[in-house]
Amino acid sequence: MNKLNWAIIGTGRIAHTFAQALAGVEGAELYAVGSRSLQKAQAFAEEFGFKKAYGSYDELVKDKGIDVVYIATPMSSHYKDTMLCLDNGLNVLCEKSVSLNMGELDKMLAKAREKGLFFMEAMWMKCRPVYLKALEWVRESRIGTPQYLKADFCNQVKYDRSDRLFAPECGGGALLDLAVYPLTFALDFLGREPKELTAYAHIGKDGVDLSNSITLKYETAFADISSGFELPCINRAVISGDKGSIVFADWFFCCCEVTLFDDETNMVEKCEIPNEINGYEYEIREVHRCLEAGLTESKLVPHESTIAVMKIMDECRRRWGMKFPNE
Ligand SMILES: NC(=O)c1ccc[n+]([C@@H]2O[C@H](COP(=O)([O-])OP(=O)(O)OC[C@H]3O[C@@H](n4cnc5c(N)ncnc54)[C@H](OP(=O)(O)O)[C@@H]3O)[C@@H](O)[C@H]2O)c1
Repeated sequence: MNKLNWAIIGTGRIAHTFAQALAGVEGAELYAVGSRSLQKAQAFAEEFGFKKAYGSYDELVKDKGIDVVYIATPMSSHYKDTMLCLDNGLNVLCEKSVSLNMGELDKMLAKAREKGLFFMEAMWMKCRPVYLKALEWVRESRIGTPQYLKADFCNQVKYDRSDRLFAPECGGGALLDLAVYPLTFALDFLGREPKELTAYAHIGKDGVDLSNSITLKYETAFADISSGFELPCINRAVISGDKGSIVFADWFFCCCEVTLFDDETNMVEKCEIPNEINGYEYEIREVHRCLEAGLTESKLVPHESTIAVMKIMDECRRRWGMKFPNE
């Protein structure tokens, strides 16, 4: 397997988790890290063993040795960071939500096409083995026609105006940070084009949603989704059809266990696949597989899926009157 030189932009929470996975993936070279502070970049590089540390993102993208950049900055920076990488001829794996809105995403995808470069949303859930097993069960009609889906992603986060989660200028709010998972999940299992939606939100004093509840209606199916920073939830997910159900364990988007039940709620099959590292190894391997095959888009995380979710999030915010600065 060819080695791939990885670079990371941003040295926050998820960058640390991702770097742990990267260090354990065969063929992944911890090559460069870029931060707005040289000191932070150097500390990060030392912690994980990156060869190079840059004190600005602009300096990092000039490095000719990089094969792919993982963007781990807040939502509000994804557009400019992605454009910076693509303009400098670099492939991109960009954290969710990949942009603030469809306008930005359109331009990012057009730029990737123009440059012939790889672009993928870091929607790691879609690369996880138990997720793929559940999709296989549905394809094999093990639950019949899926008609009902329920998925939550809620946790309790202490209010801190300086945290990107609460900051409109960073693209804060539960919708882009959390609902992106259950929405992606619903669109994967029920289809990318719901006929109607309802969307309610509790908008906090800073102008971003602290909790939300979204229903998607299809011809013969419904998805019931909630997410937020105000309640500690179990965050399971279930998909039911006329022949049975699939239940994802707690924290459905990163769980290691899915269970298949028949139409009388008897357990039929359980699939349990523990993480090999910390769960992010699967999306990293997917990037390797795509780049080795010369692909500019992943089949597991296709652009169309990212677009379909972004359109729904735009529509939810339109109904809530929730705008980010400069929108
Ligand atoms: N896949 C997952 O499981 C997962 C989990 C958590 C978060 N995420 C996503 O990953 C992204 C980052 O989340 P995070 O929780 O890691 O955020 P975070 O801890 O706040 O870190 C973000 C990093 O981005 C850089 N940055 C650039 N411009 C910034 C600005 N204006 N304000 C603050 N930081 C800025 C900073 O790094 P430097 O100072 O080094 O430049 C900062 O450390 C988000 O898109 C989030 O949705 C994904």
